[in-house]
Amino acid sequence: MSIPRFLLAAVLLPAPWMASAAEAGDADRGRIIAGVRCMPCHHLHLESKLIGPGLKGIFNRVPRIAGVPFERWDDASLEAWLKAPRSIKPNTTMAIPPIAERDRTDLIAYFKRDENSEAADR
Ligand code: HEC
Repeated sequence: MSIPRFLLAAVLLPAPWMASAAEAGDADRGRIIAGVRCMPCHHLHLESKLIGPGLKGIFNRVPRIAGVPFERWDDASLEAWLKAPRSIKPNTTMAIPPIAERDRTDLIAYFKRDENSEAADR
């Protein structure tokens, strides 16, 4: 019995989404990380403040906090902020343990997917 050719192809060919997920960040994983690392202090789906400002629709939004040199929260500014908030704003009250590079990339992919802007506030 021989293995059908299409099955072989499915196993042997790398799936295109694998490569792009690795480069662009894994938004599903980022969602889980946000739940663990950000939700203690931030609403993800509301604009209202908890300890820090709500992160609803944060990607591409104008910063609500004072003292950061960014016009928008985009890939570069979020990366810089999540890597070391104090290096951006020395007196910031966002004091967090370091976030691993892969986790930052995945978090940004999650915010970029922007599902936290959708109407389903919770
Ligand atoms: C210990 C509490 C705490 C945790 C945990 C925390 N933050 Fe914050 N965050 C804050 C506070 C407080 C501010 C306001 C800082 C300031 O005004 O200097 C803030 C500000 C921000 C801002 C600026 C918001 C705006 O509207 O301009 C972003 C973006 C942000 N946090 C993202 C995150 C992300 C993403 C995570 C999870 C990886 C996270 N924060 C985890 C407390 C926290």
